[in-house]
Amino acid sequence: MQNLLITGGSGFIGLNFIRYLLTETDFQGRIINFDKLTYAATPKSLTDISEHFPDRYVFIRGDIADSSRLESAFDSYCVDSVCHFAAESHVDRSITGPGEFINTNILGTYNLLEAVRERHDRIVLFHHISTDEVFGSLGAEGYFTEDTAYSPNSPYSASKASSDHLARAYHKTYGVPVKVSNCSNNYGPYQFPEKLIPLVILNALEEKPLPIYGDGKNIRDWLYVRDHCTAVWEIMKRGTIGQTYNIGGSGELENIKVVETICDLIDDISGKPTSVDSRRELVNFVEDRPGHDRRYAIDSGKLKGELGWEPEETFSSGLLKTVNWYLNNPDWVQHVRSGEYREWIERHYG
Ligand code: NAD
Ligand code: DAU
Repeated sequence: MQNLLITGGSGFIGLNFIRYLLTETDFQGRIINFDKLTYAATPKSLTDISEHFPDRYVFIRGDIADSSRLESAFDSYCVDSVCHFAAESHVDRSITGPGEFINTNILGTYNLLEAVRERHDRIVLFHHISTDEVFGSLGAEGYFTEDTAYSPNSPYSASKASSDHLARAYHKTYGVPVKVSNCSNNYGPYQFPEKLIPLVILNALEEKPLPIYGDGKNIRDWLYVRDHCTAVWEIMKRGTIGQTYNIGGSGELENIKVVETICDLIDDISGKPTSVDSRRELVNFVEDRPGHDRRYAIDSGKLKGELGWEPEETFSSGLLKTVNWYLNNPDWVQHVRSGEYREWIERHYG
């Protein structure tokens, strides 16, 4: 892996992964970050990386749905491996506007797989990043394993499921060196504040209402983003070609519990709120998400058993780090929320 193309490297998980690879691992090669810079991207979060690693980090603004731009990136930088994060990732947006999800998540993945297939003599790995949402919803018992049948319920998860199937089919049919990982809900630094945890942290700090869909008893399995990064890197290095690995945090919680934990933590760190006695009073039950999956839970036994991976953070330790990160980075929050970041993107990459 000398010239590793990372798609979506300016989004939440992709940029955490690039930071991790370049600053904490034995990775010696060059990273080519290929990103369209949608609303979800914060390329400014990698400014220090591009300054510190001018020879090992390259940025290309490009759309994976644009096959000619993609192919020229593969050839200009002699790409020999790919880690594919780029996606439209927010379930609520897929409900109001599925088109972009089909375009990026399905057509974009197809273009990447074609580019890899055409360069099979030099490409050693296509790592496809996916989600536990492809498996659908669980009842009160049980876990998703690598053998669980796909049953996606939102346009987002259906588009990710399609891309997983394409990746698998390209391995089986053409021998493309594919690995797939399906991960549970991530949280941590640099997450765009449309997702539950950063949204609630920022609203709670500002004493604004905390929207909870339905009865708040939907369950998600939470994994600190750096633990996702360590898992992906282990799989990329030592996982078996053609295999799928589930990644989870064994951190199953009802949404209401997540929100209450954040409220209590911020009451402790920042002091009591002024408008209410406790931030828990800001909770506001709102209309449910259509097709809202009830419970996700991941069995990561294969990853742990075969590759010895373990997450480092518990939900409490990861959440504390996350809340502190948002408290200590008001400029990032302001940048992302103000629309100033769109202007910054146009100035730098327009
Ligand atoms: P994100 O929305 O924060 O970032 C997505 C990135 O992809 C952005 O930088 C965006 O500009 C880029 N992108 C979007 N469309 C593109 C296109 N057509 N061409 C090139 N770049 C494009 O997403 P995230 O939360 O970092 O998720 C990254 C990946 O991980 C996704 O594939 C997602 O399905 C998967 N995943 C996410 C989670 C989670 O909890 N966030 C959990 C499991 C799996
Ligand atoms: O499971 C992995 C998936 O996790 C990833 O594939 C997706 O890319 C990622 O966005 C995430 O999807 P979710 O829909 O689970 O994440 P979100 O943060 O949007 O919602 C988490 C839970 O909180 C979910 O049950 C819906 C609920 N929710 C969400 C928001 C934004 C609320 O109750 N209120 C809210 O305002």
